[in-house]
Amino acid sequence: MSTQINKQITFDMSAVEAVIAQHKAMPGAMLPILHGIQESVGYIPSEVVQLIAQVLNVSRAEVHGVVTYYHHFRQTAPGRQVVQVCRAEACQAMGGDALAAHAKATLSCDFHETTEDGAFSLEPVYCLGQCACGPAIMIGDDLHARVSFDKFNRLLEAKRGAR
Ligand code: FES
Repeated sequence: MSTQINKQITFDMSAVEAVIAQHKAMPGAMLPILHGIQESVGYIPSEVVQLIAQVLNVSRAEVHGVVTYYHHFRQTAPGRQVVQVCRAEACQAMGGDALAAHAKATLSCDFHETTEDGAFSLEPVYCLGQCACGPAIMIGDDLHARVSFDKFNRLLEAKRGAR
């Protein structure tokens, strides 16, 4: 069964139910369930919080608290491409803060959010192994080093064009 969340985004409820069934009997099942759901449908739809609470016999607030405590868990569907901006020390020393601010302004979204058009999600990352040539970013599986504002804009445009 596919569940309609809004005009553009759906998730597979049967995949969610399968994950819950697989993990519900294990001790400390909430985190494995949440990880499994995110892996399966890309995020934790608000609609499944109540279901998890019922199955684990905990409050809805408790499940919501875990989802919001860990930044790893997305509460909205991911964009078609994930843009990761390195926030670790070496990149910060090379202008990483300014690049992060530029990325947020350019995409009109904050970290852990998705652009209006669903094209990009913006995420912080803590080291991409490019410390000597920061600031570094990753778009999808593609790593980019020494990223200036101009280079960031060009990379984004190329990804938009590639859709
Ligand atoms: S600190 Fe940014 S790549 Fe290592």
